[in-house]
Amino acid sequence: MVITLATLQASMRECCDCAALVKCRSRVVPGDGVVPAQVMFVGIAPGRFGGDITGIPFSGDRSGLLLRTMIARAGIEDVFITNLVRCNPRDERGRNRDPLAAEIDNCRRHLEAEIAMVRPRMIVCLGAMAWRELAGRDEVFDPSRPKIQQRGGATLYPMYHPGYVIRGAYDARRYINDFRRLRRHLDKRQFAELATACALPAT
Ligand code: URA
Repeated sequence: MVITLATLQASMRECCDCAALVKCRSRVVPGDGVVPAQVMFVGIAPGRFGGDITGIPFSGDRSGLLLRTMIARAGIEDVFITNLVRCNPRDERGRNRDPLAAEIDNCRRHLEAEIAMVRPRMIVCLGAMAWRELAGRDEVFDPSRPKIQQRGGATLYPMYHPGYVIRGAYDARRYINDFRRLRRHLDKRQFAELATACALPAT
């Protein structure tokens, strides 16, 4: 059987691995975007006013608007956007909460299936939680000095989560520059691949 993005998404929508999330989610929110994609963005979990309503990660809320605007402004195309966890985690008062370690672990197989299908060149970890999950629990999260890590064929790249900027904890102009820098990394990598493929002379 050929596994397409649609079949992968359909299998995720049937997931009932986390009893607490099955109770509070409105829907499962699989990753979405271009396959294969040059860049995969990994957030935390769909928001209560965003993905949990729209069914699409980083859409319908301020985090989604900011992230998607930054990607467009930087001229980054071919993106796939997903999360560590595919259901909206809520506390007893119905507010967004961070996913538990067990919920992240349960959802890991879905993330790995998406990475295998999307085959990104760059995986951008939005926030320390995504960074530590993918780069390693002891890895320092410092987007001001991206320490690029290789993971399979992809480069792992740390960036602040858009929610951090929305809360005023990080300056929006610096965030624009971070996306420009990401774009430069992508261009450099693409050129290096082209140079190898075409055996261009070293400059
Ligand atoms: N929306 C998402 O899809 N993920 C986040 O981490 C935040 C908002």
